[in-house]
Amino acid sequence: MKSIRFVALGGALALGLTACSGGGAGSGGGGEDGGGDPADMTIGVAMPTETSERWIADGNAVKSQLEEAGYSVDLQYAADDIPTQSQQIDQMITKGVDLLIVASIDGTALANQLQAAADAGIPVIAYDRLINGTENVDFYVTFDNYNVGVQQATSLLVGLGILNEDGSEAGATGPFNVELFAGSLDDNNAHFFYQGAMDTLQPYIDNGTIVVKSGQTGIEQVATLRWLQETAQKRMEDLLTSTYSDGTKVNGVLSPYDGISRGIITALQNAGYGDSIEAGLPIVTGQDAEIASVKLINDGVQYSTIFKDTRKLAEQAVTSAEAFLEGDEPEANNTEDYDNGVKVVPSFLLESDIVYADNIQSLLIDSGYWTEEQVASGQA
Ligand code: BGC
Repeated sequence: MKSIRFVALGGALALGLTACSGGGAGSGGGGEDGGGDPADMTIGVAMPTETSERWIADGNAVKSQLEEAGYSVDLQYAADDIPTQSQQIDQMITKGVDLLIVASIDGTALANQLQAAADAGIPVIAYDRLINGTENVDFYVTFDNYNVGVQQATSLLVGLGILNEDGSEAGATGPFNVELFAGSLDDNNAHFFYQGAMDTLQPYIDNGTIVVKSGQTGIEQVATLRWLQETAQKRMEDLLTSTYSDGTKVNGVLSPYDGISRGIITALQNAGYGDSIEAGLPIVTGQDAEIASVKLINDGVQYSTIFKDTRKLAEQAVTSAEAFLEGDEPEANNTEDYDNGVKVVPSFLLESDIVYADNIQSLLIDSGYWTEEQVASGQA
């Protein structure tokens, strides 16, 4: 199946060579053996939004690494607007890019674009988020998203004193009041994160150590459209005035992303929970090691986050892109878990780490991800 596509790919790129001889992208051509000169090739990179700093870091890292390898790059952000992203990808295809790297907004909304890409022989790499409902996604680079969810829940259990950082039982039996938040339902990752988290929390819910007082445990009930901070803040405010109006306290909140965590923390602070965990804030988890949240962790306000080194993900995307452009297949380390509804997409998964206040230095500063000054100021 793959090799058939590659024959088609070579042909389409050769065609592209003639069709685009007026210049512009798409003129690199794979050639007979699939290899081409990077200097003649353009890669289209479609990113979801600039409102969250992780995507800015991803975009910059992918662009600079591709440029170092000699390629031209067309990098576009879509302001979290689905039609904008579709249009940007349409334009990249029309311009004749040689390959597409796509971090989708809605993982089910790009089937038409990807069909056009396939028809033009343009390989497509899904970046971080899987694109669903199409056979025209050739490869997927991401983190082990299920394990990210396990790590989020584990850090919540550590913060509550139920587990130690090494995963052994720490002894606390609660009962602890915990509320749950998930990401955007149209993002495939949100489901993996939540599943990993719930599989980890369920035994403690079952034995009564954890109580979800609102009763809201289904992903549809706890999801946050577009991962928006304000939406999460509003839901937390609503929970506080409904479920917790009897004076009982929230002890922990499962949050899937740092922006959401900050919305949750703002709602709690406004409701009088205090300015720090020590002063009464619940344990709140996160994801992405955004600088504003790393500062909050350092200051004892947010409890944890998950560090996904976007430099490594960019590197993996670039390595995979080069493989396609040289007529090879990228190396997958997972060919089972990411079924997009039409096929299982060969994937490369990277590992992530839990960040607590006591390992900010070793994980984030020593690795050069953030400087000490950035952590202290909370500014990138
Ligand atoms: C990413 C997360 C990110 C979230 C919100 C997910 O698809 O995997 O790293 O926190 O989107 O941007």
